[in-house]
Amino acid sequence: MESFLIKGGVPLRGTVDISGSKNAALPIMAAALLTDEPCVIRRVPDLSDTRFMVQILKSLGAEVSFESGTVTVQAKKIRGYADYELVRKMRGSICIAGPLLARLRKARISLPGGCIIGARPINLHLKGFEALGAKIKIESGYVDATAKKLTGNSLFLGGRAGPTVLGTANVMMAATLADEVTVIESAACEPEVVDLANFLNAMGAKISGAGSPTITITGVKKLHGAEHEVIPDRIEAATFLIAAAATNGEVVLRGARADHLRAVIDKLGEAGVSVTLRGKNLVARRGGKLRPVDITTLPYAGFPTDVQAQMMALLALTPGISIITERIFESRFMHVSELARLGADIEIEGPSAIVKGGRPLSGAPVMASDLRASAALVIAGLAAKGETQVNRIYHLDRGYERMDEKLRKLGARIQRVEEKA
Ligand code: EPU
Repeated sequence: MESFLIKGGVPLRGTVDISGSKNAALPIMAAALLTDEPCVIRRVPDLSDTRFMVQILKSLGAEVSFESGTVTVQAKKIRGYADYELVRKMRGSICIAGPLLARLRKARISLPGGCIIGARPINLHLKGFEALGAKIKIESGYVDATAKKLTGNSLFLGGRAGPTVLGTANVMMAATLADEVTVIESAACEPEVVDLANFLNAMGAKISGAGSPTITITGVKKLHGAEHEVIPDRIEAATFLIAAAATNGEVVLRGARADHLRAVIDKLGEAGVSVTLRGKNLVARRGGKLRPVDITTLPYAGFPTDVQAQMMALLALTPGISIITERIFESRFMHVSELARLGADIEIEGPSAIVKGGRPLSGAPVMASDLRASAALVIAGLAAKGETQVNRIYHLDRGYERMDEKLRKLGARIQRVEEKA
């Protein structure tokens, strides 16, 4: 297994190119199953998750290539079955369910199960499919969704933690080929949902309202091939903004979209980090002393759960008490005990983490537990004195394209090494 070896204490300086969004690319790649014509998807980040989606599409019978950031999919003949080994490895693969149901009128998919950040139920996805007329059977760990025909309907898709991103994507995709009109209320408003809707519309779908809580889909008989460029990754961008602040450096982000990062930029401003526009680029640097802030993760346009861990690393360096409340995934605090190994003082109280910031961090071996927790440990390691070894960085490689290379270009002393026994 590979690790990152980081010699901390170097302020990051320079320009970084932001990659295409993982969480937009995955459902967009799945959406190519909705047509037998070729689809060309550009700016796909080269990650283990996107490579895995290529494998899934191939296993369903599609012809797929992935070269220099461009994925081409032609799903002439496909089958509607995805087994446990595929879905277990990447919960995001559940977004093949909507396209399979729409195209084949049947999908048999392994239940994804929970993961380290919390339970990952799919009850809302299934509620949406049922509202469109699908019959759902759960047996031996598999969901069987079948429909003689899909018919548009009005449905409310909010759950206990608010809207669901991939649930909205799945129901939206299933509804594109249904008869009549579907209205999804309490739809997720994330930019990744908008990007998917734009791709589907380019394929001939009739979707309006994406980006708002009410999405209207007028079913069409057939979709055709299309070309699309994936939006920049707002979570990768936020991670670099925070890394710049944590190391007291100055980083220019090329290709990031400020309009997708409002909550993060606003909170960083409150914490004493200046994020400004220079031409089309975003520039992050400390504006003065860091200040503690309180954060609650919320559905878009609120503060993203996917940036909570990285922000905790910054607040551990910030003198004073910050409170971080996690409202989306109940056990997304696995990074707390690892940050403590670097010297951070953080207590968990129910859904909140109380960060008593400002203690100096010093390098230590730490273990990555999930994708965003890994990014938090890298940020803390970059700011800590001495050497930090972040083990199990395969988690990080799922969602950050060449992070070590990008950080080295900004001056960081970071190497990818084989894990020390
Ligand atoms: N939920 C339900 N029922 C459902 C679906 C979700 O109760 O049927 C709950 C979840 O348990 C959670 C909340 O609703 O409490 C929100 O989950 P959501 O469905 O929105 O998450 P997701 O679509 O499975 C995507 C991203 C995650 C990101 C979340 C929230 C992808 C591939 N994944 O997951 O990304 O954290 O939205 O924004 O798009 C990551 O990139 O590190 C990552 C975990």
